[in-house]
Amino acid sequence: MHPAAPLLFFDSGVGGLSVLGPTRLLLPTAPIVYVADSAGYPYGTKSDAELAERLPALLTRLVELFSPRLAVIACNTASTIALDHVRAALDIPVVGTVPAIKPAAVASKSRVIGVLGTEATVRQLYVDDLAARFAADCIVIRHGSPELVAIAEAKLAGEAIDPHAIAAAVRPMLAQPRGAEIDTIVLACTHFPLIAEELGLAMPGVTFVDGGPGIARRVAWLTQGQAWPDVAPVGIALFTGAAPSPALARSLDRFGLGTIATL
Ligand code: DGL
Repeated sequence: MHPAAPLLFFDSGVGGLSVLGPTRLLLPTAPIVYVADSAGYPYGTKSDAELAERLPALLTRLVELFSPRLAVIACNTASTIALDHVRAALDIPVVGTVPAIKPAAVASKSRVIGVLGTEATVRQLYVDDLAARFAADCIVIRHGSPELVAIAEAKLAGEAIDPHAIAAAVRPMLAQPRGAEIDTIVLACTHFPLIAEELGLAMPGVTFVDGGPGIARRVAWLTQGQAWPDVAPVGIALFTGAAPSPALARSLDRFGLGTIATL
């Protein structure tokens, strides 16, 4: 494996940064290409058919452009709907993002857990299956929130966050039967760990679990023994739609993504 071969991170927007962050801790000099499908954002309100058609074609094009050693679909919506299609289309390892229901079920004392994702993710049979396999003795309360995705995007774009907007976004989850007993919440959208602090203020005492650190370990394991550069190269952030604002570009730079490009 050539040391310059990058890891490719993919999301609809900035959410994948919550997976890139922990990965950088384990693989500090890995060359990174981060792709935000801003032309397709948001994914969470799209149909399964639309995403299943869009993602394999787009990922195929990106792999042709960057020849990555591995791709991380750092998006729960894309992974729960299209991971198999993407894997079938590519000839490199593809790591997906699975809602962290298993560790949440282990952590919960009240045995009532929340799954906070996009509308598209929380309706997937895949989530039913995870709940049945790993949280059979828990009540699993799901909620899809496009508002929280937009709030995370706004935060990274340097905008102030209104705590009332966060509280309003999570209220429908807490208002469901037994919702007040939730003690552990799966952040089943990669955008949400980016606003974990604000979510914590809206729901004091609740533990949040996300897949980022687990995915990072998986990437490190799959690339074990491969050569990396001695010094971290400047990472690339590629947008499929309009270029990011200067404030968003500054946030990306904090994640080591100093080169901005558009498709
Ligand atoms: N970050 C994405 C996820 O993990 C999707 C957000 C969106 O585009 O709706 O589900």
